[in-house]
Amino acid sequence: MSKDPKFVAEQLRKPSGTSATETAQQMNKANKATNLAALKALNVVSGDCVLEIGPGNGKFAVNVLRKGSYVRYTGIDWSSDMVANAKDLNSKYVESGQMDFRVGSSESLPFSDGKFDKVIAVHTIYFWEVLQTHLTEIYRVLVPDGKLCLAFADKSFMQNLPFTQFGFRLFDEGDIRAELSDAGFKVISCGKHSEYGENNTKQLVEKKINIIVCEPDKR
Ligand SMILES: C[S@@+](CC[C@H](N)C(=O)[O-])C[C@H]1O[C@@H](n2cnc3c(N)ncnc32)[C@H](O)[C@@H]1O
Repeated sequence: MSKDPKFVAEQLRKPSGTSATETAQQMNKANKATNLAALKALNVVSGDCVLEIGPGNGKFAVNVLRKGSYVRYTGIDWSSDMVANAKDLNSKYVESGQMDFRVGSSESLPFSDGKFDKVIAVHTIYFWEVLQTHLTEIYRVLVPDGKLCLAFADKSFMQNLPFTQFGFRLFDEGDIRAELSDAGFKVISCGKHSEYGENNTKQLVEKKINIIVCEPDKR
């Protein structure tokens, strides 16, 4: 894949075209530890109905199913290439009805109120122009005692990467706490996950990740 930072940014926002599959594979490698840590924090249990926003090629969806029995998984991604890849990669589970992948945006979720027990989004909020629109939709589709996990790299780390000047919104923990509170969520935990690994331009870097779990505030 081209290392042109603008092209990298466009692919990370919405992997598309001839570079889509390679972009997804690089994300799988670069983001594995964060995805597994976020999933652990979300605490999926047997019987849960789970929504993932921006799963890319759905590489980690099987880890959601493994969290318990009768877990159902839905992934929604605004890239039709990613949804096609995810369906291919997980065809066994799609055919059995345990997984579903849809093209769409968290700005307007094609699901009924209170459909999901858990919602997760990893490395995806950077692309949400008006966060409140997305968080309000997530709130709507969660059951009243549901949980949302947002995992995102901290602004302090992201601002030094060459591609983030092209259309990324950057946040720290405080920014997201405030946004979640405005949308009616209460933060339950905020973990700091740190790891050394290759970034999407193959440089070795220390990644500082926030993993925030919250629930609808019942007050
Ligand atoms: C940087 S990739 C991260 C992929 C994966 N979650 C990971 O951790 O490797 C962002 C993904 O989210 C999708 N995406 C971004 N914003 C979205 C939104 N609002 N609704 C649906 N998909 C979105 C993109 O198409 C892309 O597949």
